[in-house]
Amino acid sequence: MNEPSFRTVKSSQVILKELMVPSYANFGGKVHGGVILSLMDKIAYTCAASHAKAYCVTASVDSVDFVNPVEVGELLTLYASVNYVGTSSMEVGIKVVSEDFKNGIVKHTNTSYFTMVAVDEITRKPVPVPGLILEDDQEIKRFAVGKLRKQLNRNHRREMSEARQAIDFAQEIRMLKGENCQIVRS
Ligand SMILES: CC(C)(COP(=O)(O)OP(=O)(O)OC[C@H]1O[C@@H](n2cnc3c(N)ncnc32)[C@H](O)[C@@H]1OP(=O)(O)O)[C@@H](O)C(=O)NCCC(=O)NCCS
Repeated sequence: MNEPSFRTVKSSQVILKELMVPSYANFGGKVHGGVILSLMDKIAYTCAASHAKAYCVTASVDSVDFVNPVEVGELLTLYASVNYVGTSSMEVGIKVVSEDFKNGIVKHTNTSYFTMVAVDEITRKPVPVPGLILEDDQEIKRFAVGKLRKQLNRNHRREMSEARQAIDFAQEIRMLKGENCQIVRS
């Protein structure tokens, strides 16, 4: 049976809810950032694999800024949606909110973007994914911004790689004067 070459955004949207139990806490009593990152990776996979109907890997994660701490006992809700699709890559937008049952307060924890790539399960080489059917202005805007983010991230990776190769080590050591480090090599 032929797979459809385009799918709607809604067909792969995912919501994941998880109670923040005491074993998720760090020494400060708040939920570990790593627990939230792990849940984000899980929902990104579910959303991307559901769109692609294929095995997917996480290629990159955009910056994750935790704007509010998450407390033990709160309910975490993650919303994931495919924003943008290239040839084999998909940008999955993830919004995380936490809810305190006692007072009903809902806090925005973070929003981030995961790039997932569909790969052949045996060769691990990228495989094409269906396109996106965009049904409203918000979906069109998210697709356009996702395309822009892919381009900017690609430029950044290239510039970073070029800059690293061009580093003059002796000059860099002089530039470290005044930085918060001590060079103690013999
Ligand atoms: C992601 C991966 C499949 C890309 O393979 P590749 O041979 O470099 O593939 P290509 O250069 O042809 O790129 C394929 C797609 O991935 C995207 N891509 C590759 N590297 C990327 C990166 N670092 N960030 C974002 N997107 C990336 C490309 O833009 C391209 O998208 P498109 O097909 O929509 O245009 C490969 O690097 C890989 O397997 N990485 C390990 C992933 C993994 O194990 N993740 C879990 C970590 S625990």
